[in-house]
Formats: sequence, structure tokens, C-alpha cells
Amino acid sequence: LIVSADKSIAKISPSMWGIFFEDINFAADGGLYAELIKNRSFEFTNPLMGWKSQGKGSLLVINQGAVNPKNSRYVTIELGPGPFYLTNEGFRGIGLKENETYKLSLSGKLLSAAQPKITVQLLDTANKVIAEQQLANFKNDWNTYSVELKSGKTVEKGKLRLLFQGSGTVGLDMISLFPLDTWKGRPNGLRKDLVQKLADLKPGFVRFPGGCIVEGRDLANRYQWKETVGDPSDRKVMINRWNTEFDYRATPDYFQTFGLGFYEYFQLAEDIGAKALPILNCGMACQFNTAEVVANTELDPYIQDAVDLIEFANGDTTTKWGTLRAKMGHPKPFNLDRIGIGNEQWGAQYIEKYKLFEAVLKIKYPDIKLIGAAGPSAGGELFDFAWKNFKLTEVDYIDEHYYMSPGWFLKNAGRYDNYDRKGPKIFAGEFAAHDREGKTPESRNTWFSALTEAAFMTGLERNADLVQMSSYAPLLAHVEAWQWRPDLIWFDNLNSVATPNYWVQKMYSNFKGTDVVAILKDGKTLIGQDSLYANAVVDSGKNQLIVKIVNASGADRDYSLVVDTKKHIEKMAKVYLLQSDVISSINSLQNPNAIVPRELSVVLKNNKTEIKIPKYSFSVIVMDVK
Ligand code: AHR
Repeated sequence: LIVSADKSIAKISPSMWGIFFEDINFAADGGLYAELIKNRSFEFTNPLMGWKSQGKGSLLVINQGAVNPKNSRYVTIELGPGPFYLTNEGFRGIGLKENETYKLSLSGKLLSAAQPKITVQLLDTANKVIAEQQLANFKNDWNTYSVELKSGKTVEKGKLRLLFQGSGTVGLDMISLFPLDTWKGRPNGLRKDLVQKLADLKPGFVRFPGGCIVEGRDLANRYQWKETVGDPSDRKVMINRWNTEFDYRATPDYFQTFGLGFYEYFQLAEDIGAKALPILNCGMACQFNTAEVVANTELDPYIQDAVDLIEFANGDTTTKWGTLRAKMGHPKPFNLDRIGIGNEQWGAQYIEKYKLFEAVLKIKYPDIKLIGAAGPSAGGELFDFAWKNFKLTEVDYIDEHYYMSPGWFLKNAGRYDNYDRKGPKIFAGEFAAHDREGKTPESRNTWFSALTEAAFMTGLERNADLVQMSSYAPLLAHVEAWQWRPDLIWFDNLNSVATPNYWVQKMYSNFKGTDVVAILKDGKTLIGQDSLYANAVVDSGKNQLIVKIVNASGADRDYSLVVDTKKHIEKMAKVYLLQSDVISSINSLQNPNAIVPRELSVVLKNNKTEIKIPKYSFSVIVMDVK
């Protein structure tokens, strides 16, 4: 293998490897968003979903018209003679950690002369109290009350219980429980272990809020960013597009509180050093239902949402939306520079709509890059139609999606080698190799699926002049509440596990480089000969030469690796090796480290080394250049 290290073939975009976030599989509510109470403001279709009440002679009533017009339901409790309990089950239980502190807050109002005693309790799985605190007396108007509770135990499936004693009538709303230890300690914050896994990827961008969720199950239930900013209690709760009632993965309790909304997405991207990449509804609902489509003459509010979003992200405090951003805590702009119009739409209707967005956005904000979608498939009539028509527009990137077999990923490692360089750039916006079904949630994230993605990604990297962004999808999934698999990271209420696919993404992203250089075997680019796939890059900032090699075969291979350079390569090079002899191996919550990178080294003499590339392996060789 010969690497021509001194000649840059293509520049690598700093945002080449990113992440795709969608609130699917309990990724936001019940996942990344650290709120522990399900249906905190009684706005689910069934207002008491997630809640249980118990207590003879007491009366619990659901009312409309509390403090908040957007989420107007609240409950009143008229106490009977005995104690009354109101319990929340959380999202498949409430994860609590021993000695960690949790903050309960609620809106409360006293509706009687008598003042009941209200105790807040954390319960373990056997309903034993593991922390409790008494709430202050309620006043006669709505106020927020809070207490902090230190958990006496670690439990995966705890509960929150409010115990009412004495007599009287109270009103309750927005009952919320957060760990104090969120990401960066923020109130209304995010689950720390999950954000850490995302930050460790060092992603170049965060795509949000999806996926099909952008479209919604119908247009009334589409994702509208304006409904997701401002005070969290003012964000109107909506049914999640992935709420499923009847199949074996039923999640009828899947709703969006938007506590994790557009401000928090921008903040998350900024925190982890990534570009924000919002995708907006283009006036079309989700393909999986009979798609509802807005008439082109009625598209203005949708286009205005895009215009206003740019103002929200970048406008100064003389602007309406810039003022809101500043009020929420971020006076500086978020420096948004790209947005997507539509998710997986296609056909003439979609192109017409895209053009109407483009006509406004390219004039008002010429520096904002626009992303159009190639539809749901990686080829075929619809795909060709999209490409043909997009070439006549000023679109900057085309978002291609491929959920295919591992074999497809191996065969398509050269997909972009002969793509037209004169058209828009590529955003490989959603991809994953779908291996065989297995019984456990994590079982589709096989080592083989990850290995074939690594092979395919040599082709993305080699074509970095064209492919400028890419993201595996979906990102997050709760092991007890998923609708789609494979996914990059699995979690329960306490822990999370990085799949083999995660490690592949991380090894690419952490060793991204700045320039592609050639790597050849017998004078030819490695795109599958002898089941070998490879690419080489230089990092001019870190003075490194990085070679990525995939051996997708069941036999070890020995090669000499020669670096053709006028520079000096340090003798000791690091090798990060991801390998398993068993291609069906997975990482699971019970066994999270079955497939993790190992750090090895190789010695180079006169810029040359003999190297073993083990069967079923992905190696990243990092050489220091002087
Ligand atoms: O990633 C899961 C879904 O796959 C996305 O919501 C959609 O864009 C695609 O069909």
C-alpha cells in the first residue's frame, strides 16, 4: 500500500462528520431531555396517562384554563378523610441515583380555607420511600413551589409520589422532576451521560429536529419551531409522530413537550463545537400517511418560519426573534449558516415548494446555505427526478438517505467516485446498514453492520470535495421504547451503551484530517479488492498522516505500508483497532465493551512498515509527521 502524503487531492469540510438527532425512540422526552415526569402538565390525549391516584373519599378533577393558555389543563384535588396519593411512573420508570439530588417543582394553588400537608416522595421499585420532603403551604393564587430530594438508593424504575394529608382543596399543574446534575448543571437541562457521548464524537454538525418528525403525522401536528421556544411551560404539548398504539412496540404515551426545543438544540450544538443544522417543514406532511400538502399559494407562513428562524439564530437584539433569543440567555448570535427545506419529500410538488423557499431565502439571506432532499431512496426514478430538478436551482447540498443492507454498503463504497462535480454538494443525511433482526433491541447493531459502514465511509472521505456532511441515523433509542432500529446509542433510565457503529463514527470524526491524499494498492484505489477498503488523510493542523483501513473479509492480511513523502514520519505510529472475529457481535447495556477500539502501535523504518490487517477489522493508523 502506497500513500502519497504530500499531495492534497481534496479539502475535508470541518463539518464532514455530524450527528442526526430526532425525537424517535424516546430520544428527547424520556431520553436526552432530563425531565423525569411523564405528562407533567396533564396535556396528553388521556390527561392522566402516566399518573395513578389513590385515596378514599378524595376527588381528583381535570380542569381547563389554568395559568397557561397553551397547556391549559390542571388538576384539582379535594381531600377526603384519609391520605391521598398521586404517583407518576416516569418514562418506563424514573432512573434515580444514590446520593444524587433531584428538584421537584410544581405550580400550586390553594382553593379552600383549610391547608393540606403535601409531602413529596421518591419511591424505589418496591414502592419504598427513598427520599421525602414537605412542600411549603400553598397560597390562594398560582405559584411555583419546589423542594430538593436526595435519593437514598440507585433505582432504574423509581416513581414520584405526592402524599396529601389533612383537609382542603388544591390545584396542581406542571409537576416536574429534574436531576440537579444535568449537562452543564442547567435547569430544564439535558441528561449528562448522553450529551457526553455526543460530545465525545466531536461532531461537525447537529441536524435537528429529525427526520419524519419535521413533517408530523399531519400538517396540524408538524414540527413548528416557534412553539418550542420561550418558557418551557408555554410550549404546547403535541402528539409525537412516532406515537404508536397498536403494534408490538406500542408507545401510546409518546408525546412532545418541547422542553428540548430549538433554543436548546442551538445551545447543544454550540456546547459540543458543532454547527447547528435545522431542517424545516416545507409544507408537506409525513409520507407514511397520505401526505397532506399545502397549496403553494398558502406557503408563506412556512417560508416566514424559515426567515424568522434565521433571525432567531443570528439577529441582534433590535430584532423581534433576536430579542427572544437574548431573553432566553444567549444575546450573542448562534451563527447559523445552513438550513434544510423538507426532510424526505419528493416529486414535482416538493421541488416547486423548495423553489418558493429559495426565492425568498437566497435574496434575504444569501449567505445561508440551503439543503434540499433527494427523497427516501438512494436511487431510482424519484431520486433522479430530484437531482435533475435541483441542478436547475441554487441549492447548496442534496440530502441523500440510505437505510440498506450491509452488502449494499460494501458495494457502494465507490458511490461518489464518479458523481458530477458541477452540481450541488452531498449531505449524506441519514444512513445505517440494516443487518438481520435479533431479539434484543441492540441486536441489529452488529459488528458487521458497523464494519460495512466503515468501508462505505472510506468512499465518503475519499470524495470529501463533494461529500461535505454525513450522519448515521437514528442517534438515540430507549431499550424499552423504540420504534426503529438500529440506532447509534442505546440507553435505559440510568445507563447508555455505544454501539460498534458509534465507535466507527467516532474514529472517523476524531481523526477527520484536513486533506485527502491518495492511497493505492498495485496502482489502484482500494474500493473492495480483496475485501479491502482504505483512505488516507493529512491533518495539517496536528501534523498527522491518518490511514483508515477496513478488512471486510474473514482472513488476516499482511501488507507493507509505504509513505511517499519528502517529510519525516516519526518511528512510532498509533493504531486504533476495532475488531471482532464474530461479525454478529454487539455491544449491549449488559455487555457494553464487547467491541471497543484497542490502542496498539506500529514501528516505521524509513517511512515503511509491515502491517497486519486482521480479519473483520477497522484500523485507524495515526502517524506524526515532522
Ligand atoms: O431515521 C428514521 C426515519 O427514517 C426518519 O425519521 C426519516 O427521515 C427516515 O425515513
